[in-house]
Amino acid sequence: MSSHFRFSTAAALALICATAPLLAASTPTPAQNAVRTRIAGLKEMGTAFKNAMDGLRGSAPQMILIQQSARTIKNSSQAMFTWFPAGSGPARGLKTAAKPEIWSKPVEFRAAQDGLARAADAFQTAAMSGNADAIRAAARGLGGACKNCHDQFRVPDQH
Ligand code: HEC
Repeated sequence: MSSHFRFSTAAALALICATAPLLAASTPTPAQNAVRTRIAGLKEMGTAFKNAMDGLRGSAPQMILIQQSARTIKNSSQAMFTWFPAGSGPARGLKTAAKPEIWSKPVEFRAAQDGLARAADAFQTAAMSGNADAIRAAARGLGGACKNCHDQFRVPDQH
């Protein structure tokens, strides 16, 4: 019984040793998960912004599309406060365009996030008003909030 136990333990250990590297390769780390979450959120916000701009083209703005997009952008602007946990910055094995300044200049980064949250609120209010001119003006403010943060905290596209 005890020799059988020893054998099983050894076999189990061997199995664990053999599969651990595979698990390490396929199971995302918390940092990789954080990057995935924020890229997905940023893509969704980018698509929503583009949809809103498309909805503004032409003589009859597509108000429902614009209002749905504004809601997505507003939700994203709030969720973004959780998208940059410590340790999810540039590192080996982590593909991210987030600059280290996000974590070394937290006050400035927080201000850029707050700026987006305010601009997203204003855009949402304008979208609900249904006034195309107000929506265009708020969209410029929103685009400015994106650019303000990207200029400081995102590695420019290499392509
Ligand atoms: C507070 C800072 C901040 C604000 C505000 C901000 N972004 Fe970004 N954005 C980033 C950072 C940092 C990255 C790079 C993230 C990464 O690679 O991990 C990024 C990346 C992106 C990406 C690329 C995602 C991908 O495919 O890799 C899109 C799209 C995007 N942002 C859209 C927007 C839009 C649209 C707005 C405004 C409505 C906005 N962002 C506002 C910081 C910000």
